[in-house]
Amino acid sequence: MLSAQQTIGNVFFDNQHPSIGDCRDELLAGLRQSQKTLNPKFFYNEAGSKLFEKIMRLPEYYPTRTEVKMLQQYAGEIAEVCGQGGVLIEPGSGNSEKVEYLLKDLKPSAYVPLDISADFLHSTAMRLGDAYPWLQVHAICADFSQDWQMPESLPQGNRLVYYPGSTIGNLDPDDAVSFLNRVSDWVGNEGGVLIGVDLHKSEDILHAAYNDADGVTEAFNLNALHSINPLLDANFDAENFAHKAFYNQDKRRIEMHLVSQSSHDVKCGEDVIRFDAGETIHTESSYKYTTESFSDLAERAGLTRKHGWVDDDGLFSMHYLTPA
Ligand code: AVI
Repeated sequence: MLSAQQTIGNVFFDNQHPSIGDCRDELLAGLRQSQKTLNPKFFYNEAGSKLFEKIMRLPEYYPTRTEVKMLQQYAGEIAEVCGQGGVLIEPGSGNSEKVEYLLKDLKPSAYVPLDISADFLHSTAMRLGDAYPWLQVHAICADFSQDWQMPESLPQGNRLVYYPGSTIGNLDPDDAVSFLNRVSDWVGNEGGVLIGVDLHKSEDILHAAYNDADGVTEAFNLNALHSINPLLDANFDAENFAHKAFYNQDKRRIEMHLVSQSSHDVKCGEDVIRFDAGETIHTESSYKYTTESFSDLAERAGLTRKHGWVDDDGLFSMHYLTPA
């Protein structure tokens, strides 16, 4: 168990992980809806974070390699547009792989990775602290969709939120607007947001990306049940569920579900959740945008698209947004 706060060399670690009770209430509320839902943040226990690393290396999963190529190509230009020497904040930082393509050019005074997976975040922060001795790393283990405390000891200077990977696509549009509103508050009037957003494309490419031949996405989806079992004191059996992912044309989103293979009950502490055969838990949406539809979404949150980049094949986009 990691202690609440720890400083080792240039790495400061702050554990603001939500209580098990908060997670349980949120999970049960989702599982009691007529369309059962599970917030995709619950994918990311330690095993889930490792499976997601595998997904990012899959041949079918184009977003990561496309975004990485863009970062390699445009890092210098990005630093010119976003400015150097500020405080760089990354919600859902995971293994912090992408930010490393920017560090040399952005030269931030501090890097603030925020992630819900405590052990994973801790090892990533230690690795970064070692690799970049000039960088202050303020790692915060928190659910960034809820309240969390910005460290008081952060250096002054402009703040830049970096939100790669099209993680914004995992929020329904209204929630994405609320999230961007909150991000605006984190950075203030002088700050900005650099964000990666997946683009509309052929259904075949999208379908393959979420139904890979090796079954890694399937394992990632099913692992959500292992992840929530200890939080709910539940006995979900992954053998009773199957992975399903499809493109919803109307909503312009990939939907991932776990399909119950039989009618059965799942004990969640004192509660029981009943499943019919074929009933699903909606575990994730992954919205796809055009440059225009994303600019419009950002405008709804009071953010203006100052600059944008799209890869040569038109698969993925990056945007620099500032408060209007
Ligand atoms: C993290 N997020 C942007 C990924 C996505 O593509 O929506 C999560 C993912 N789910 C299945 N594969 C990848």
